[in-house]
Amino acid sequence: MKRITVKMEVNGKEVEREIDPRMLLATFVRDELKLTGTHIGCDTTNCGACTLLLDGKAVKSCTVLAASASGKKVITIEGISKNGTMHPIQKAFVEKHGLQCGFCTPGMIMTSYWLLGKGKKLSREEIRKYLSGNLCRCTGYQGIVDSVEYAAELMESEKAKEKARNR
Ligand code: FES
Ligand code: FES
Repeated sequence: MKRITVKMEVNGKEVEREIDPRMLLATFVRDELKLTGTHIGCDTTNCGACTLLLDGKAVKSCTVLAASASGKKVITIEGISKNGTMHPIQKAFVEKHGLQCGFCTPGMIMTSYWLLGKGKKLSREEIRKYLSGNLCRCTGYQGIVDSVEYAAELMESEKAKEKARNR
């Protein structure tokens, strides 16, 4: 099959590759860009392990063609830490035991990143609802919801500190 050229911004860097037009975005970031933090669990849009942000929206990259992401902005789990410092959501998952085997964790964190980026105060029920497309076989979800709640607090306090610094 004729290969095609795709160009996109991934974690703030422009990338360009010649690929099979049937290549999925999950495969593209893992195999072409070696960003293996994006996991592939089911390949059928069920588990959410492959979640990343495409033009600001959380998507399951196992059912998005890499070609359709051309010209867009992608953020993967590797793109949310800054200068080697974990993002508050990552810190919260560590501190509140939001993971066990860790397979679902990049997807959970990327969905939470999108969710908390809305800046709305969320109830535990709402957090559960928004994370319902991300499956975890280990934690029983309690620790995950605790982590997302705690991440919202951390992000809020970081924002307040930033504001105070800029006064
Ligand atoms: S690997 Fe994409 S939803 Fe499971
Ligand atoms: S921590 Fe193992 S699947 Fe979620």
